[in-house]
Formats: sequence, C-alpha cells, structure tokens
Amino acid sequence: MKRAWWKECVVYQIYPRSFYDSNSDGIGDLRGILQKLDYLKELGIDVIWLCPVYRSPNDDNGYDISDYQAIMDEFGTLADWEELLAEMHKLGIRLVMDLVVNHTSDEHHWFQESRKAKDNPYRDFYIWHPGKDGREPNNWRSFFGGSAWQYDEPTREYYLHLFSKKQPDLNWENPRVRREIYQMMDWWLQKGIDGFRMDVINMLSKVPGLPDAPVVSADRYHFGGQHFVNGPRLMEFLTEMKQKVLSRYDILTVGETPFVTTRDAIELADEENGVLKMVFQFEHMDLSAEIGAEVGTTKPWSLLHLKEVMTRWQQDLENRAWNSMYLGNHDQPRSVSQFGDDGQYRVESAKLLATFIHMLQGTPYIYQGDEIGMTNVAFESIEDYRDVATRNMYREAVEEKGVDPNLALQVVHAKSRDNARTPVQWDSGEQAGFTTGTPWIKVNPNYKEINLADSLADPDSIFHYYQKLIQLRRENPVIVYGSYDLILESHEEIYAFTRTLEEDRLLVILNFSRNSPVFHLPDSISFVSTELLINNYEVNPDKDIHEITLRPYEAGVYRLK
Ligand code: NOJ
Repeated sequence: MKRAWWKECVVYQIYPRSFYDSNSDGIGDLRGILQKLDYLKELGIDVIWLCPVYRSPNDDNGYDISDYQAIMDEFGTLADWEELLAEMHKLGIRLVMDLVVNHTSDEHHWFQESRKAKDNPYRDFYIWHPGKDGREPNNWRSFFGGSAWQYDEPTREYYLHLFSKKQPDLNWENPRVRREIYQMMDWWLQKGIDGFRMDVINMLSKVPGLPDAPVVSADRYHFGGQHFVNGPRLMEFLTEMKQKVLSRYDILTVGETPFVTTRDAIELADEENGVLKMVFQFEHMDLSAEIGAEVGTTKPWSLLHLKEVMTRWQQDLENRAWNSMYLGNHDQPRSVSQFGDDGQYRVESAKLLATFIHMLQGTPYIYQGDEIGMTNVAFESIEDYRDVATRNMYREAVEEKGVDPNLALQVVHAKSRDNARTPVQWDSGEQAGFTTGTPWIKVNPNYKEINLADSLADPDSIFHYYQKLIQLRRENPVIVYGSYDLILESHEEIYAFTRTLEEDRLLVILNFSRNSPVFHLPDSISFVSTELLINNYEVNPDKDIHEITLRPYEAGVYRLK
C-alpha cells in the first residue's frame, strides 16, 4: 500500500453556519472558525473540510451557490477566508473546500441568463426541456420531494433540478460549462487550498434522452438514479477534470458518491490512476434508512449487516483504493443517536464509535460536535426545523399523503438533517456559547450536560478519548496501513477484527450492545504478550484477553506481540 499524507491524516468537518458565531448575528462565520483553530489543533486533527462558504441565497445552506468566487456575506469576506487559510497553514492544518458543481443556485448569473430566452448564450448551461403531454418531461423525483422538474414561464420550458427547485442542474455535456468549472477550481487551488470534497459528484452525467424512472409505487414521481448515478460520461468528465486541474496539485479529493458499490469506488479512486483519492460510500448509512427515503420511513439496523458491509469495503478496496471512514455528517442524524446509545451509554458508545472509525483502514472524518458526543434533537414543532429537505418532505407527507403529523414529526426527530445542524455546544452559558445573538436554528436543550467546556475539564471525556485516538493513529502506521481481518464473524453484539502490518498486529474489540457478552479469542490468533493501546473503560493492562466479559459499549485496542 503506497504511503500518502491524505491516508495518514484525520479530517474534521465544519458546517460553518453552526460552528461558532463571532459577530452575534446568530450565524457561524469564518472569523468564528479562526477563533477556534487552537481548539482544533489541541484535538489533533490535520485537515478541515469546510462545507460551502460561497455566496448563496441559502435555500440549501450554501449548497446552492450564486457565485463560486465570492464568500457568503453572512460568513465574512474573502480577506477573512484568506486569513483563515494562512492561520491554518501556520498551525499545520490543511483546508479542503466543498465543490458543488452538479448544480448552482437559480440566482447564479448563468441561470439568470439561461432562463431569459432559448437562444441566450447561457441556455445550454442547464438542462431545459419542453413538457410532455402538458406535464413534466419525465417522472423523476427530486431528492427533496416532488418532481425534479420546474416549469419556467419566460421560455415555457422545464429545467431539471435533482435537489431543490432553487438548485438547477448544470449541463455537463456542454464543454463551456466544464471549462468554467475547471477555471474556478484552479482559482481556488492557486490560492493554496489542499483539496476538494466533491458534492454528489457521481451524478454529473445524465443518460441521453432522460428516460422515465421505473414506476415502483402509486406515487407520481420516482427515483431516477439509474439514469444519472454513475452515468455514461461520468468517467470521461472526471478524467478531463483530473487532466486539466487535479493532476497538477498534491491534494486530497473525496467524492461524495451515493449508491456506489466497491467496484464503482475502485474505478473512481483506483490506487494507481484513479481520478479521485477516495469516495464517501453510503451503504453503511443506508442500513438505517430506505434508499431515497421519504419522511415516513425509519429502519432498524443490525450489527451483522454493518459488519458485512464494512468488511466488504475493507477487503475489496485493500491495495486497490482507499476508504473514507465516517458515521455522520451534516446530512445525517448524529452518529451516537444512530449507531450508539444517546441515553445511558452516550459517553461509552460515542467513544466506541470513535474507536471504530479510527481503527479501520481509511481516512477518518470527524463531524463537528461528535468529539463531545452531541446528540439528535427533538424540536416540538416542524416550524423549528430549517432544512429544506425536512420541511418539504414533512409537508408532502402530511399534506399530500395524509400521514399523521405526530408520526411525521417522529420520523423528523429520528432522521432530519437538522439533527446534525444545531449549533456546536461550546459551554453551558446562554445559547451554548455559540452566539450572543439569536441562533439561526435553536440549540439542543441538552447543552448544559453536553458541552465542550466540561469535556475539556474532564480527563475521561469523549474529547480526550478522540485526542488519544488521533495521537495513536499518528504514532502507529499499522492503524493507517495495516490489513483488516474480521474475527467472530457471526457474533451479534461484538465487532472484532485485527489489523496487521508486517510483524505488527492489533486486535480491536467493540461491544456494540448494552449487554455484557463474553469475548472469546479464536484459537487461530496467537501471541506472547499484549499491550493495551486504548480502552473506554478502566482496565487492568495486564489482564488476559483470551476471555473477556465486556461491559456495555466497551471498546478496546490491544497490540499482540
Ligand atoms: C449533498 C450535500 O451534502 C447536501 O447537504 C446537499 O443538500 C446536497 N448534496 C445537494 O447539494
């Protein structure tokens, strides 16, 4: 396995709107991040992935960009951004920017031009179609509910939007679009950034003719993924992007690629000549949600499934491509609520999940707030939610499908993206120390018990546990590069595996349950002595590990010598 900095680093994801507000307008901003860099340095991370900070009307919190080369007013200025980058680099922290080029905002000047007339020079920057039999050109459903098409009066045609109607899809078939995007990427790279996280990058290429999606229910619109996920020209577009831009820089690139298989991932991020360095896959996240889920569905997940998925990704990519490891981000419920126990065993299970993402082969991505074990929130009214996807889907469920509002709200509580978007809980003061103004979204009321100030003061906190994991990863190449072998494959509560790099071998034991199962070391694993690297409970470091009665959510890592 080839060595590379982007394999060895730990990434911290910042959702700037909710991170830290420096000017009391209730919205997190760039100077807020600047003020917290020392904190991130203390945590030990090497890279920040910054969610979009570009000019935007904020229909989808910055994923609707109206100017790729300007900073959103609420976040600050380009000068603030430059200062932030310079300070980060001084501290040895790299910056990965979000690249959102499947779509723009409808307020981008390209789209403003495009919608004016059919012969406007920007017309073909987007995907326009006349209606079919007085209706939308096809039956695709938008990810945010309703049709993926919007009728536009001035030219009496429809434009495609896979996300909200304020996010028209760019037409990647048009070489001028591609050229503009490459120039823009180069502009940021020239400023010294260290990479891109590429938003829904495997949706750029749509099947010509935009055929109807298979009809799978009585609904009017259906998931059309087979006609735009990993589409026919995707590899060609990305190869061109690599040739024209990416290959000239030593950067981290990570594609957000919903619905990919390990085969797709290897094609995209091949160790030898991939177009990207790694991708975010979603199979493990989809274990607890229906694919293309609407409000109205939640799904229990099982550890056996999780093991099967993660093991397949670990094994298939070994020596072929590189994994990214994450359990949460700004689009998902909080990881401790989804995969752990956000009640009695919140601290233990948050530490277990941290052990999990740091001990598998791949680059770990920590989502802001996970390092203090922030949890889902349950606002009482849909009015307290801000996310366009949550609001659209709730409305569709209640108003169009007649779902009981209480039931719909329960699903929102479990699944809303706003679970991850409540402000970071810095301390137990008003508004959790996030702002001295009124926050754009309410803080989670549990901030008095869960906050960073308390975590810093407590040597046994989740924060200090993360700090230790990051340090261990830095000191032990086996954690980064070691190969993965699952043991106790069919155990329903314990997830255990080894990592091996030449003579060095680690044993990772994770009890994903509230029970106390007994771990039995398989006979095939032999050693002379052990060294305890980390455990989320007090343990006797010399304890024999052949048989261990695990405590709820116990996680331990041992070196086998
Ligand atoms: C994925 C982003 O992570 C999400 O927040 C956004 O809504 C969609 N892509 C559309 O850009």
